Amino acid sequence: MQKKKIAIMGLGTVGGGAYDILTRNREYIMSTQDIDIEVAAILDRDETPLIRRGIAKSLFCSDIDKLAANGDIELVIETMGGVEPAKTFITKLLRSGKSVVTANKELLAKHWTELTRLAEQNGVGLYFEASCVGGVPIIRALGESLQGDRIQSVYGIINGTTNYILSKMSTENIDYTGALADAQKLGFAEADPKSDVEGYDAAYKLSILASLAFHTVVPYESVYREGITKITGADIVNAHALGYEIKLLAVCKRDGDTVEARVHPALVSRSHPLAAVSGAYNAVYLNGDSVGDLMFFGAGAGASPTGSAIVSDTVKALKGPRCCDFGGDRSDDNIKFAGDFTSGYYMCVTVDDKPGVLGKICTVLSDNGVSIKSALQREGTGERTTLLLLTHRASERSITAAMGEIEKLPVVAAVESMIRVL
Ligand code: HSE
Repeated sequence: MQKKKIAIMGLGTVGGGAYDILTRNREYIMSTQDIDIEVAAILDRDETPLIRRGIAKSLFCSDIDKLAANGDIELVIETMGGVEPAKTFITKLLRSGKSVVTANKELLAKHWTELTRLAEQNGVGLYFEASCVGGVPIIRALGESLQGDRIQSVYGIINGTTNYILSKMSTENIDYTGALADAQKLGFAEADPKSDVEGYDAAYKLSILASLAFHTVVPYESVYREGITKITGADIVNAHALGYEIKLLAVCKRDGDTVEARVHPALVSRSHPLAAVSGAYNAVYLNGDSVGDLMFFGAGAGASPTGSAIVSDTVKALKGPRCCDFGGDRSDDNIKFAGDFTSGYYMCVTVDDKPGVLGKICTVLSDNGVSIKSALQREGTGERTTLLLLTHRASERSITAAMGEIEKLPVVAAVESMIRVL
């Protein structure tokens, strides 16, 4: 039986979850994987998280240089989050010949080329299953299970906090602020929820998933990003009236040498499997040219699910050949990142309730090459009414131009919403 010593940097929720699994399932992993993994050091700001978990203080370490110099430790789990000091610490560890398992999507999305090269140069591994979609093994599936496929598209609900908020708005008919407060009370949303609700977290994950799916670097900066803060209770009610749910979708597609990657709210037909993914759950729905449609579903966050992904990477790293399957230099110079994309659109417009208004709006859409799929007029006040319009697929540029013109029509009080449709 191989005996291996490892360390954990950052004993917060996720690091603590990984520690608990490694401790609780140590003998099970020994019997099933023929490897004995001992957590021999924990690096954190102070000893408090160790004391809280009843871990011997002798494991505490506050000096990254000492940890990097410790020849007994073969691998380090990084669960600190954020770019710094995680980047500096991981750099030191890779240079000292230790493999790293990380859950840090922001760091990877922004610096993966540099870190992957460093791992390769030092003959060690950099593993990141836990960086995307928590316990759902999507990284391994993309990297190791779908080599026979050209992935054409990936549609994901990859942020649990926003999915919880939108589900709450959908099922309990409450507004965004109330649902966010509830998510914060239950610990799904951070006190500062910006990273989740503005779509940053999902955009980091999509940059990683798209890079793996399309075998080329899809930089975080090329991912279009829009969050859920403008979604209203009325949007959800209107979407229901049309047979849709609203989800924060992460979408990436490859068409020849063009890649598009975007994160934004979207109307998802209730007949689509992604519409049924509710609460804090995540799902990834992808299409490969050989395998067809695949859907992965599970907990996208939390101590135990994310800890499960970390432990899986740890066992893989300690047993197998070194790897950093993010792709290293696999940057394809021929790739163009889409500056425009097409989608169906939902629009909610408050207008004067008098003859010819719908006609004027239809003319503007038609002049911009946008075709209407369906229109619904909600009961109004007499003077004003609300029009819900669904369009056929159109380019983002056309719809944006049409919206600009519609907003200026004297018969239009306001364009309340414009949401893409899956
Ligand atoms: N905050 C993320 C989510 C989990 O809500 O899905 C970590 O990426």
